[in-house]
Amino acid sequence: MTAHEVRSAASARSFPPGFVWGAATAAYQVEGAAAEDGRTPSIWDTFSRTPGKVFRGHTGDVAADHYHRMPEDVRLMAELGVDAYRFSVSWPRVQPTGRGPAVQRGLDFYRRLCDELLSHGIRPAVTLYHWDLPQDLENVGGWPRRATAERFGDYAQLVGEALGDRVELWTTLNEPWCSAFLGYGSGTHAPGRTDPVAALRAAHHLNLGHGRAAAVLRELLPPRAQVGVTLNPHLVRPLSPTPEDEDAVRRIDAVGNRIFTGPMLSGGYPEDLFADTARITDWSFVRDGDLALIGQPLDTLGIHYSTSRVVSAARSRSGEPRVSRPASPWPGAEGVVFHQPSGERTAMGWPVDPTGLYHLLMRCTADFPGLPLVIAENGAAYDDRPGPDGTVHDPDRIAYLHRHLEAVLSALADGADVRGYYLWSLLDNFEWTYGYGKRVGAIYIDHETQARIPKSSARWYAEVARTGRLPV
Ligand code: NOJ
Repeated sequence: MTAHEVRSAASARSFPPGFVWGAATAAYQVEGAAAEDGRTPSIWDTFSRTPGKVFRGHTGDVAADHYHRMPEDVRLMAELGVDAYRFSVSWPRVQPTGRGPAVQRGLDFYRRLCDELLSHGIRPAVTLYHWDLPQDLENVGGWPRRATAERFGDYAQLVGEALGDRVELWTTLNEPWCSAFLGYGSGTHAPGRTDPVAALRAAHHLNLGHGRAAAVLRELLPPRAQVGVTLNPHLVRPLSPTPEDEDAVRRIDAVGNRIFTGPMLSGGYPEDLFADTARITDWSFVRDGDLALIGQPLDTLGIHYSTSRVVSAARSRSGEPRVSRPASPWPGAEGVVFHQPSGERTAMGWPVDPTGLYHLLMRCTADFPGLPLVIAENGAAYDDRPGPDGTVHDPDRIAYLHRHLEAVLSALADGADVRGYYLWSLLDNFEWTYGYGKRVGAIYIDHETQARIPKSSARWYAEVARTGRLPV
């Protein structure tokens, strides 16, 4: 190897200067204190109490007790050496009924959190909505109702006014696809409705809420503030290179990806989505002026990636039915089936496919030129347990993170403008329908005692964040 080759090999493992190393959580997944300081129920409090919806009836009542242990958690973050911490504000904690004035005690918690972070040199990165709609708003229609987007804009104003002096990094929505299609389509997430038209209406009103919130923040915050959204784009591959399977990919891409990126970033909803869903709706819920509001200029696009998918048409060319899971949360893609590829999986059963992250970053680079990308979430669940000496070793998670960060390096080398990476998650948490049955944190939580034990992946990540390089 020549000196030049050694230098390039070394730099190929290095991230650019200024690359942001972060960790992420979400309010309902970690805070607990569900009935304290004026907080009222969100749709997830109600859903998790509905028998059969969440693993063993677990709820977020206590979660990781972060509301009470916040200073300790910030100290742990400081040991991890992260530059930024992405957390969400709980809407029912700061504006319990989803309308009217803010509850000061709720806002004060987030002010204290920001101050604690800043005193440790960690930048707060706020997500306004990570799935915990105030139950009162669901009772009057939830996201399928247009007024919810207006309420969301008002809530953004309250939070922006309260935290704008401390926070520069803002995300409006987290994974609106899940809110719309798991919440109102398949009903596997809160509020548990199963109505494809309600899901499409919800998607539009989430888009509208995003637009209102982005506009409000822009108006309120100084120019250095960065406003973005976080999506979970589906990286979908065809089972075979046939026109039918390519069309299956197109349909999932329309209702899984372009339904959000179209109006937010490309000027409107895709025509093929209208055609795919024409049987069930004429989209008359989209009103004049909506697209202009939704298409606010953004500073960053946050991407969540954990796995890829393989799809096909329900029947092969020769007419043989292909047996697989039905695509229930996908209106307009009813003839599409999903396949489980063989190979390595996480404890969620999700295939491990780091190349999918590379392809996703390159696609976003091609589709949205000039828009900086941030990996707002990447991580995996594994069956972590403390050993006899009390330490928690999670080599599978280290390998997962390593391989996905290598994919980020490849995308950077090929021209993707990736500005940062947030590990999902800082803490073991309430993992939605999996309850406390799955562990995704770099920090182990004993759910009985709330003791925190940094896993070996935490030490590994701290070293990557400190050096800005991947170990060989
Ligand atoms: C997506 C969500 O943003 C997060 O809340 C969730 O825990 C992870 N992915 C893992 O399922």
